[in-house]
Amino acid sequence: MPPLTYANYLDLEKLLTLQNPRSTPAEHDEMLFIIIHQTYELWFKQLLHEFEKIETDFSAGRLFDAIHSFKRARTIMKTLVGQIDILETMTPSSFSSFRDRLDTASGFQSIQFRELEFLLGYKRASTMSYTNPEMPGYDRLRRRLKERTVIDHFYDFLTTRGVAIPEKLRERDITQPNEPNEEIQAGLLRLYRESPEVSILFELMTDFDEGLQEWRYRHIKLVERTIGAKKGTGGSPGVPFLKQSLFNPIFPDLWAIRLQM
Ligand code: HEM
Repeated sequence: MPPLTYANYLDLEKLLTLQNPRSTPAEHDEMLFIIIHQTYELWFKQLLHEFEKIETDFSAGRLFDAIHSFKRARTIMKTLVGQIDILETMTPSSFSSFRDRLDTASGFQSIQFRELEFLLGYKRASTMSYTNPEMPGYDRLRRRLKERTVIDHFYDFLTTRGVAIPEKLRERDITQPNEPNEEIQAGLLRLYRESPEVSILFELMTDFDEGLQEWRYRHIKLVERTIGAKKGTGGSPGVPFLKQSLFNPIFPDLWAIRLQM
């Protein structure tokens, strides 16, 4: 057996043949467009990996492990936001030169982004209609819709810290989005006051949440400056559709309590 090399370990030969611009003659910026999206998908994969671990940590009451992983997830999120700067170096006319080649392809159909939303408790079953069973990962997405979310596992963690979880949250329909709850908020406030180490976790969760909203905002501005009021290639009205999710927090309870702190 030849010794393992950098290229073999990373399967680079395969990876570097996966960037295939569709414009002929090739438009210079299409390469950037492909690489940016592929990079996002890799980071989405890593985030899913981290949040699966966080769920296990939460249910086992492992505070410091969850803190460690949230720190990483927050840092990845900052990178995701920062990457938008690179794509914003592409002018609207440059994008127009190959946009038609995208046909109906759209970020709308990113299975992993939707998985992330479902995993985090932002479940919109209607978004399944932008995908179809032929798409790779579709079954995984369907499964996620029917699984407990990071927030449901967070309730397990809160239980280990003496917060009573209301019955209606324990027995909730897990295909629906998680909703804010005043009893949970009272528990969070108590923990903020009594457990400084737990408050570190809460702040990291809030950082991540703010980061995701920041990404949504930057994506909307990117879309606005690149295609203006045009419809999306995925068939949505474009910017007005994206604005619906703009200020929706993932952990609304952590935001609601700030009034009382
Ligand atoms: C020139 C750059 C871009 C344009 C013009 C653009 C445009 C759009 C539009 C119009 C939508 C609404 C759905 C539709 O009708 O197509 C959308 C959704 C989406 N885009 Fe982009 N996008 C761009 C870059 C990106 C990048 C770099 C990513 C990174 C993964 C991305 C991920 C997404 C996701 C995940 C959605 C679904 C959002 C949701 O359902 O809330 N987009 N995009």
